[in-house]
Amino acid sequence: MGVIPVSAVALTTVPGTVVQGAEPNPSGTGDPSDDFNRPLIASPPVVQNPRSQGFGVSIAVAGLATAWVEYGFAEDDLSFTAIASHHGLVQADDQVLHVRVHHPDELPTDRPVFYRVVVQPLRYRSAYQLERGEPQETPVFALRLPDPNAKRLRVVSINDTHENAATIRRLHAKIEELDPDLLVWNGDTCNDFNAPKATEQILLNPANDLAQRWASTRPLLFSNGNHDVRGERAREASRSLVGCPESPDLPYNQALRFGPLAIVTLDTGEDKPDAHPVFAGTAAYEPYREQQAAWLKQVVAQPAIRSAPFKIATTHIPLRGLPGHNDGTAVDGYAYYSGFGAKLWLPTLKAAGFQAVLSGHMHRDRLDEATDQMPVLQFVGGGPKPEQATLTVVDAQRDGDRAEMNIRILDLDGNLLHQKQWNS
Ligand SMILES: [Fe+2]
Repeated sequence: MGVIPVSAVALTTVPGTVVQGAEPNPSGTGDPSDDFNRPLIASPPVVQNPRSQGFGVSIAVAGLATAWVEYGFAEDDLSFTAIASHHGLVQADDQVLHVRVHHPDELPTDRPVFYRVVVQPLRYRSAYQLERGEPQETPVFALRLPDPNAKRLRVVSINDTHENAATIRRLHAKIEELDPDLLVWNGDTCNDFNAPKATEQILLNPANDLAQRWASTRPLLFSNGNHDVRGERAREASRSLVGCPESPDLPYNQALRFGPLAIVTLDTGEDKPDAHPVFAGTAAYEPYREQQAAWLKQVVAQPAIRSAPFKIATTHIPLRGLPGHNDGTAVDGYAYYSGFGAKLWLPTLKAAGFQAVLSGHMHRDRLDEATDQMPVLQFVGGGPKPEQATLTVVDAQRDGDRAEMNIRILDLDGNLLHQKQWNS
């Protein structure tokens, strides 16, 4: 390792900008016998929040490090660099780093964006005595960004993995096989985020295997579940799955349009009323759902969402229940469906012509068909055990004036459990 003056680590970038040809590796002798240079990369890269000119990448690290993304449009030409920094200070962390790429122009969607993440060890001896280790990089990945004008689009949604390693491994294999343009993790990634469990490992390295990468070559869209807000480290979750860059107050609300499909994510929050004694005054989901209701009304009126031939919403807790189901608005028991969310959001989804809600939470798959009163179907994915687990596959395509959407729920063996097709 090298001990270097602070001036030597000055990087020629400003927050979130891209410098062509930048070489941000300042120093380091790379002595592998030194613990400072031990392997630091502790998760595969997890791509999030694709936009026409950017995307974000999170990576878990095993020691204090800075990170950057090198990217370009050929595997052997990663000529752009985006560095994680905030108010001029380059980000450093010993658990997780998030780098957002802001490209000067629109990124291609008809060919991959090639990228790798580089992390570099950092140690402070004093304010002017900083040490840097050897940069360590991930392999180069070919990222396909979903095309806003796509003729066809595939979304796969999974839910309620609850840290079940066997299920998570099999889901990785099925996701590779189905090869979606966008992966949705529809809540309950964990049982809770209590120490000593590492929040970033559950969220970014759920298979506990750097070679299992379900969101390194496609973006992940996270839809928050009731277990994802439990535990003393739950507040760290948004450092790994960073939420919507445009709405920091409503991080889990996204309204995206890709080709024939509009997808809106809603956060049902906890499964009991805020005043429930188990929350000990830490729950404020009732006003939060109301805020989301106002947001939802606004986004369904946006031209990009309104004009989509097909519209789906994700909510971890179902919005429709079966007769006798607990709606979670009273202190007894817990929600089988979100009575609060149903009242606030379903009328808007219905009026805006949404075809379906994708949800989970019940650990048992089902399809709630349209009724005269409720034309919005509900696909409920299964549970954490391999025999309960499911993948919900949404295929939407458009050919001239004709468009069709097919939604299927599959089990881990690929058996078809539920299906519905729409034509317009
Ligand atoms: Fe749940």
